[in-house]
Amino acid sequence: MKIAISGKGGVGKTTIMALLARQFKEMGQEVLVIDADPSPHMAQSLGVREADKIRPISEMAELLKERSGRVEGSAFYNINPQVDDLPARFIVEADGINLMVLGAIQSAESGCACAENTVLKRLLTKLLLKPAQVVLLDMEAGVEHLGRGTIVGVDRLLIVVIPSQSGIRTALKIKKLAEECRIKNISFVGNLVQDPEDEQFLREGLGEAPLVCFPDSPAIRRTERKGLAVTGALSDVAQVTRDLVTALQAK
Ligand SMILES: Nc1ncnc2c1ncn2[C@@H]1O[C@H](COP(=O)(O)OP(=O)(O)OP(=O)(O)O)[C@@H](O)[C@H]1O
Ligand SMILES: [Mg+2]
Repeated sequence: MKIAISGKGGVGKTTIMALLARQFKEMGQEVLVIDADPSPHMAQSLGVREADKIRPISEMAELLKERSGRVEGSAFYNINPQVDDLPARFIVEADGINLMVLGAIQSAESGCACAENTVLKRLLTKLLLKPAQVVLLDMEAGVEHLGRGTIVGVDRLLIVVIPSQSGIRTALKIKKLAEECRIKNISFVGNLVQDPEDEQFLREGLGEAPLVCFPDSPAIRRTERKGLAVTGALSDVAQVTRDLVTALQAK
């Protein structure tokens, strides 16, 4: 199962991915988490030691330039760069969960360094196409920067949404973009949902019920403030996390 997560800034994408990672791991699945956020935080959420020392691959200019085969002053580069050895070099492990910090993949419109971006996309595509493991891809809002070749590897997109007008607007915009990119299976996940009124607001605004709704969790807030890992053992979200995994496995 290859699951990508998206949503407006700060809605809880990384937290929910960390909860999912732990839950899948507890169920005996091999889990790889890929952090493709421009400011990656997944390592902290998973409790990787010395998380702040991990350098995203997207910032390794020399490596990317070398792999892309780009020669200074030339417009040509290798569109099929060698990336097979990179996972072994850059995957870190936290309590049985594998993590690769990829960093930002640029969209074509943002004036990307295309040669380097090709290396990142190639690496991501390879990781997504590897069978028999759960891959969780944490991203910033949107999916269009992934490009067609990479998106074919994603089975499912989760869009995290909080119960506010602007939250719903952004979530619907992301859904539209994802549909245009032909992502097969798109679902919403509610976060910071306090009561049935919040749930109803989300259902009506989105035109469908979210797969599950996470509450505003004092346990998550406490964990975050202490700089601890987000684990499935957090009492007030354990059941919702299990329900989410069940829902993901059902469809
Ligand atoms: N259900 C929740 N209950 C309480 N706090 C939460 C919950 N979900 C997320 N948070 C807190 O909200 C903040 C933002 O969460 P998180 O970093 O997961 O969001 P994000 O969508 O990944 O943000 P970014 O767009 O910056 O990557 C964090 O401090 C996190 O601990
Ligand atoms: Mg995040």
